[in-house]
Amino acid sequence: MNLDSIEEIGPATKVNLTNAGVGSVKDLVVRGPYNISEITGLSIEKAVELCNKARIKLEELGALEKSFITATELYNKRQSIARISTGSRCLDELLGGGIETGSITEIYGEFGSGKTQICHTTAILVQQSKKDGGLEGKAIYVDTENTFRPERIVSISKARNIEYINSLENIIVAKVFNSSHQELVIQELGKIIENNNIKLVLLDSAISHFRAEFLGRGTLSERQQRLNKLMHMLIRIAEIYNIAIIITNQIQSTPDIVFGDPYRPTGGNVIAHASTYRVYLKKAGKNRIARIVDSPYHAEIEALFSLGEKGITDPI
Ligand code: GTP
Ligand code: MG
Repeated sequence: MNLDSIEEIGPATKVNLTNAGVGSVKDLVVRGPYNISEITGLSIEKAVELCNKARIKLEELGALEKSFITATELYNKRQSIARISTGSRCLDELLGGGIETGSITEIYGEFGSGKTQICHTTAILVQQSKKDGGLEGKAIYVDTENTFRPERIVSISKARNIEYINSLENIIVAKVFNSSHQELVIQELGKIIENNNIKLVLLDSAISHFRAEFLGRGTLSERQQRLNKLMHMLIRIAEIYNIAIIITNQIQSTPDIVFGDPYRPTGGNVIAHASTYRVYLKKAGKNRIARIVDSPYHAEIEALFSLGEKGITDPI
């Protein structure tokens, strides 16, 4: 679906878009009008027009959900959502069958609670056949904390009797050095997803660079604006390419909470609203407790799982 399929894109605009790295109709929709206007210098009105045309094109081709559909159609569509196993049946059940495509699943919790281990395990399992909990696709691992370890991919694969050479080959790693580099990497995801049969994108973690770089109250609103743009791009990527996205997040204590758990995920409303599912991990001796938080249709239920040689497993 190249840019020529949209009549409103003349030769000059096409050159302009291509030079800015926007090569397809899907790219246009993923970037959104504000990004398109920023990177090409087109007026915002023109950018809105192009992005709307692009969305209609994708709807016509069935690549994107129509704007108006019945609840029945939606229900039927949701029955066919694909899911990726986490490696633990208990955790999968908590999530309604595994990590969903077309959505963002946020995993948050204290250090050592298993966020990075979930990322490593799902990056391997997404490659497996459907009966083994996968989608026969590849993963992109966006590593912002320098904690991706290929050795861990090897050890988890071996423990699960999976050919580790394939596991390694099917994970594309992007090391991210700062927040603007992270923005660039997310913008570039579309092309890599399309050309590599990607079914899962991992962002471990979503906001650590932003937290480290934007210090103090004065910079908070700029930080949140940039995070907001980033998260919306991720939502569109999940939707348009029908892939699963997992983001990890840290916790911070909120001293004003008198009753209950004083820990909240970082990133405020921007992250809260962008995530379809939020999973809170807590340590419980050798096991871990996962709880679904703020879900539109899950009760606040909990499940136990464990961390071991196989990565994520059922509780001991
Ligand atoms: P932060 O990124 O620091 O916030 O933590 P995290 O939530 O990402 O924690 P992570 O997923 O890295 O979990 C670390 C825990 O996983 C360790 O405390 C171990 O319990 C377990 N773990 C990590 N590597 C291995 C391994 O090779 N073998 C086994 N059995 N367990 C491991
Ligand atoms: Mg981690």
